[in-house]
Amino acid sequence: MTKYVEEPHSYAQPNDAVITHLDLDIKVDFESKTIAGVATYDIDTNDASEIILDSKYLDIEKVEANGNATTFSMGDFNEDLGQALKIAITEDTNKISVFYKTTSQTEAVQWLAPQQTLDKEQPFLFTQGQAILTRSWIPIQDSPQIRITYDATVKVPNNLMAVMSAENPKQKTEDGVYQFKMKQPIPPYLIALAVGDLEYKPISDRTGVYAEKSMVDKAQEEFSDMEKMVAAAEKLYGDYAWEQFDVIVLPPSFPFGGMENPRLTFATPTVIAGDKSLTSLVAHELAHSWSGNLVTNATWDDFWLNEGFTVYFENRIMEALYGKDRANMIALIGRQDLADEIENFKDAPEMTRLKLDLEGKNPDDGMNSIAYDKGFLFLRTLEEKVGRDKLDSFLKAYFSKNAFKTMTTEKFVDYLNLNLLEPNNIDFNVEEWIYEPGIPDNQVVIVSDKFEQTETVLNTFLDSKSIDASKTKDWTTDEWVHFIRNFPESISTEDLQRLDNAFDFTNASNSHIAMVWYEQAINHDYHGNDVDAKIEDFLTHVGRRWYVATLYKAFERNDKTEAALAIYKKARPNYHSVTANTIDDLLGFEAEEFE
Ligand code: BES
Ligand code: ZN
Repeated sequence: MTKYVEEPHSYAQPNDAVITHLDLDIKVDFESKTIAGVATYDIDTNDASEIILDSKYLDIEKVEANGNATTFSMGDFNEDLGQALKIAITEDTNKISVFYKTTSQTEAVQWLAPQQTLDKEQPFLFTQGQAILTRSWIPIQDSPQIRITYDATVKVPNNLMAVMSAENPKQKTEDGVYQFKMKQPIPPYLIALAVGDLEYKPISDRTGVYAEKSMVDKAQEEFSDMEKMVAAAEKLYGDYAWEQFDVIVLPPSFPFGGMENPRLTFATPTVIAGDKSLTSLVAHELAHSWSGNLVTNATWDDFWLNEGFTVYFENRIMEALYGKDRANMIALIGRQDLADEIENFKDAPEMTRLKLDLEGKNPDDGMNSIAYDKGFLFLRTLEEKVGRDKLDSFLKAYFSKNAFKTMTTEKFVDYLNLNLLEPNNIDFNVEEWIYEPGIPDNQVVIVSDKFEQTETVLNTFLDSKSIDASKTKDWTTDEWVHFIRNFPESISTEDLQRLDNAFDFTNASNSHIAMVWYEQAINHDYHGNDVDAKIEDFLTHVGRRWYVATLYKAFERNDKTEAALAIYKKARPNYHSVTANTIDDLLGFEAEEFE
């Protein structure tokens, strides 16, 4: 029986021969900026004469089958996919070993000099696997349909600590050698490594934070509700399957808000706001412990099954901890992101489908707000239709029945019909939501009194040019974000100056508030209070793709590409490859120009 569906982003042929366990033995060398070692796999074969792995920008030195040298060949190179690594095997081969090292082009890994870290004393390294970058630091069958357990031995300079998406050390070792074990089977995009001058602080007996010295106490404080989040998540959709839930706060070039590496979420330092106002990100990555890590999208066309479910689950965790008002504000910020994204795709409406068709494209090209916010809206609308209790028991059973398995969109639709809609006699336009562009008419409309009040304050200001400070004094980050994002097209620079003088948005320490303010400054040609210098500083220090892409897009949209380029030239060396690739495309750049 063929178990794996065809997918366009991996060369592997797992129906013929598949990896089941990885034993990784590597050395991390900051001098030469290489990771070198051997990846040994347990394999299962169907009488195949070769096993195919994915590899990109790797130096393959030799390959063994059952401990003996065997032949291998490399397929043609593809810009997105890399190359097939074809290894000759026989019917009794059950182990293969690939001796390899990474190269200067390896995309998953970012090597940071001490000055790019917070404490500025030691170098740092982190990897990013999703969507198809793991193959650039480990030769592997890099499809989300594959699941493997892994053990790893990682040698690093002995003043540094190594951590992975696995059972982790809490202290540095004397010799810089670290042993890891991930005993639950995970897809390759969730293998992750970070190395730096790290410390650990617990929050509860199963949650805690890793960060550099000067960040670790702040992180522990910011994320102090983490145990409550795990408990709330378990109450909703069943036991947490991964035992430990830690977060590592990385240097600012980390290209995402967060990445759900199992047992150890990777996070941007831009969420450390000092007031827990941006911790929905932790709820989000935690939710992936069910949607994504337990039940995994089978192909990147099914990405919305990971992200849409996670945004819904994130919102439910936030509601459980902080109430409905907060959850609705978060949902409405997402609703506006969705409206913006649909506008961005007005000339390519097929990109607004939940189920994508990414054949021949880099999966990264499909990873925008649609999967997140339209996926959320679908589930939220379904909740309204079937009732929360029924949806919750359906989801709980969905996660437990499909745990450690993969899911295609088609399989999900069948499962939904069979287990929720038909038994309850419910008529719902599932196909329209999933396979058609745009947003169906039956979408729920979320309302927030709090946001309506911010709109009133804004309108009063636009009429009267003054703001009654008593009305804004208790506003939270979400309210400020909503306020700033809803300036009318016609707002004058004088009004922006007044608002900036009153609220000092240009110097906002909250990264989300700063980002949306900078976007407005670019949109409206506002140059007061030295905001240009602040924007440049932000773009050269922060590598979070969503933030920086929003700002570069604003420059581009407002015919300020020259200004964007001037900043980008300075900023690009600080960006991880996933951010640099996105911005290269956005600003129409050939990467070579910078090398
Ligand atoms: N899994 C994603 C990050 C990702 C997406 C990596 C696509 C590679 C390709 C992660 O869970 C995520 O969604 N991060 C968001 C956080 C947010 C929605 C709270 C981010 O980085 O902004
Ligand atoms: Zn996510």
